[in-house]
Amino acid sequence: MDNSSLKVGIDLGTTYSCIAYLNNEGKPEVCKNLYGSDTTPSVVYFREDGDVLVGETAVDESVAFDPERASRWVKSHMGTDWKFSVDGKDYTPVNISTVILKRLIEDIDELQATHVKRAVITCPAYFGQRERDATKEAGLEAGLEDVKILNEPTAAAISFGFGHEGDGKKRVLVYDLGGGTFDVTVLDIDGNRFTAVATDGEMRLGGMMWDEELYNLITKKIASSYGLSADELSLNPKDSGRLLYDAERHKKRLSSNVSVRGAFNMEDGRRGSYSVTRKEFEDATRPLITTTVDIVKRALETKNIDPATIDAFLLVGGSSKMPQVKAALSEAFPNNSIQVFDPDQSIAKGAALFSSYCFDAPEPEIIPVPAPAPAAAPSAAARPPRRCPLSAVPSPRRSGRAASRSSRSPSPSRRTPTGSSSTTSSPRRSASGSPTRRRTSTSPT
Ligand SMILES: Nc1ncnc2c1ncn2[C@@H]1O[C@H](COP(=O)(O)OP(=O)(O)OP(=O)(O)O)[C@@H](O)[C@H]1O
Ligand SMILES: [Mg+2]
Repeated sequence: MDNSSLKVGIDLGTTYSCIAYLNNEGKPEVCKNLYGSDTTPSVVYFREDGDVLVGETAVDESVAFDPERASRWVKSHMGTDWKFSVDGKDYTPVNISTVILKRLIEDIDELQATHVKRAVITCPAYFGQRERDATKEAGLEAGLEDVKILNEPTAAAISFGFGHEGDGKKRVLVYDLGGGTFDVTVLDIDGNRFTAVATDGEMRLGGMMWDEELYNLITKKIASSYGLSADELSLNPKDSGRLLYDAERHKKRLSSNVSVRGAFNMEDGRRGSYSVTRKEFEDATRPLITTTVDIVKRALETKNIDPATIDAFLLVGGSSKMPQVKAALSEAFPNNSIQVFDPDQSIAKGAALFSSYCFDAPEPEIIPVPAPAPAAAPSAAARPPRRCPLSAVPSPRRSGRAASRSSRSPSPSRRTPTGSSSTTSSPRRSASGSPTRRRTSTSPT
């Protein structure tokens, strides 16, 4: 069967990626990868023998062998001159993203017996034109013939609106806490039209910071078992990589367990165990959650949006599975409906729904963004912990630079007066696109 017209959406994430398609009934479904997982780690490992691994195997080999041969968090470098160097070769963010996208496309080609030619790839609302162009280029390099870019919160809202087109107007707040970034966007849904009325976020606030805090907690515990401070516990990169890997696994378990136990086995022969309770983890990471709640409040206040006008808070992104997220929002907004909404899949599914429509539509209208105000400096809570082992983690983009890049306007022919809201029409409706938005509290789009 020729399935090449399969409607495909890709959530190309900082830490995990996900690919979805519309099934025979027109419903969005996630395509599992070859290991049976819904999401694939956005990690690429370059073996000494020249093989290039993606996803779970890349993570496993980087932990078991050489973490320096693994490229991670490439999304945070999109549109920049950053390079990943290994074995005397340089790889651009587009090169690395291409490898990840190829993997996802190969998975769907194999499992759906198809040859996918076009797809919608999502990106953060704050991505500027350069980052969007780089994302599109990666899709084309991965073998796609046509690529459309859609804002992640709009994709989540499309997913939410699917099947409820006749329900009348709704206003939702999409709280997207992923692996590397945090976004909040308020969207008005009217049938199949999605209009973003406020957006805000933090470019370096995501699950990996919770991993780093848990890593710090674990290393403190290990150090104290030797009567040392965490700074005195000398860890080589392999030990650090393994402990950070364990920290992420434990973090996920702490979403459904009240405590976890782990074992360490250092390269120099030190070994032992530790345990961490959910309470300890929540206490250590409370400032991070508070920062996200403050950003939600700022997004609403800046646009004078009364929380009472919001029909639902949709918590998406894998980190929204941490129970403290919903708890903190329920406390801050006691009168609102707060839903953890298909956190791993809603964005890819919304992109697949959008793909059923956007390729056949006329050139989408791009509704522009207002000129950017200076981005807020990251809060203390959002700064990387000092003892984090992630020397390779991209440092937070400085506000000015980020603001200037994100503010790059679409080409003049696509510009319209600033200050409007951005509207995207979902499948089966008239044209619209994925507007470029910036990421400050004053940027409704
Ligand atoms: N059960 C869980 N409990 C806590 N955290 C989780 C759980 N499942 C996944 N995560 C975390 O969610 C994050 C991945 O979420 P997601 O795939 O939405 O992010 P991403 O798309 O890679 O990042 P971004 O949206 O910032 O580009 C990771 O940090 C992962 O550890
Ligand atoms: Mg994401």
